[in-house]
Amino acid sequence: MHSLRINADRLWASLMEMARIGATPKGGVRRLTLTDEDRQARDLFARWAREAGCSIEVDAIGNIFARRAGTDPAAAPVAMGSHLDSQPSGGKFDGAYGVMAGLEVVRTLDDAGLRTRAPLEVVSWTNEEGSRFTPVMMGSGVFAGVFALEHARAQKDVEGRSAGEALDAIGYAGQARPHRLAAYLEAHIEQGPVLENERCTIGVVQGALGQRWYDVAVTGQDAHAGPTPMALRQDALLGASRLVQEVNRIAREFPDEARGTVGFMQVKPNSRNVIPGEVRTTVDFRNAKAATLDAMCAALADAARRIESECRVRIELREATCFKPCEFDAGMVAAVRRSASALGFRHRDIVSGAGHDAVYVARVAPTAMIFVPCEGGISHNETESATAADLAAGCNVLLQAALEKAGVAGEARAAA
Ligand code: GLV
Ligand code: MN
Ligand code: MN
Repeated sequence: MHSLRINADRLWASLMEMARIGATPKGGVRRLTLTDEDRQARDLFARWAREAGCSIEVDAIGNIFARRAGTDPAAAPVAMGSHLDSQPSGGKFDGAYGVMAGLEVVRTLDDAGLRTRAPLEVVSWTNEEGSRFTPVMMGSGVFAGVFALEHARAQKDVEGRSAGEALDAIGYAGQARPHRLAAYLEAHIEQGPVLENERCTIGVVQGALGQRWYDVAVTGQDAHAGPTPMALRQDALLGASRLVQEVNRIAREFPDEARGTVGFMQVKPNSRNVIPGEVRTTVDFRNAKAATLDAMCAALADAARRIESECRVRIELREATCFKPCEFDAGMVAAVRRSASALGFRHRDIVSGAGHDAVYVARVAPTAMIFVPCEGGISHNETESATAADLAAGCNVLLQAALEKAGVAGEARAAA
């Protein structure tokens, strides 16, 4: 283990300053992807990274790579990062922590005058949240070749604006170029209750649940709330409500960490005395096993057919995101575990219920994640909170694991 430690106060101060961009009254942030708030966050990160001696590259989907040179110009970089976009009512730490932790590692090395053999990169991935534009994890997905750049750029928000237009408007559409990573490490708050309940400081992340998201259109017929008898209605909102119940039932009945959520709904015409003729909604299914996730989706399709005939509506399910459960690289996971142990932190293995950029980056580079607890396990919430001590602990684990993978120049034990 290296004797170097990160500066906990500086990490906290950077997180708090970043959280001023898009700050909300309850202490969270609203920094939807590819908005002006996202641009401000990107500009601040890029400025800080330049001040720390990094060079900046932006790729065609707007991922930002801040690079600290190593001593071996031929070596591929060891990357650390996460995302700066947030949910509409998000917290200060989801995503921003992983980017600021990577920056803090670079600043710590600068303070110590320490060079690594392989370069280090701090990465801010575009549109991890998938709230404004699907698919979720868009930037890392394009980077890993999961979807084409043009497919990502063509996606539209609820106002009909494309991701490509929004990216161009904030000035972050860069150049496509080959970009190999030797390894990727992502620090993140857990976003669930396990670490806090078990009094663990570090989660050694084994992988993540698979996900299948749908955009759903329920079509009935607008009609008058008074004269239309109950039996003759084609009530799209009634159909959507039944679908919500079915999503919940399926997630409760299926095994393997099944989850099911409906988090978005638009009702048309949304007038109290009109039977709703159209509903746009979403389904988010997750599972630890690919076959069980498939079975949940088949059960949803069955439920939709039943509701169609019972409610006299049409239900279209369009898949918006799909990725299988992922397992991180055994060697990288072991490096995280070794670092947590060497630093004396209570830790446990854990599977991520959330999606992360690491899930897609894992397809093109050996990858692992480091979790730290968040208060009450609450995230995707303005009140999301984590302690400075836990955030510093995760950042120190990140530093050690990154040094192990990048190699410290002049120190024989280093291995890339
Ligand atoms: C990402 O935030 C997810 O929904 O898992
Ligand atoms: Mn996140
Ligand atoms: Mn999130």
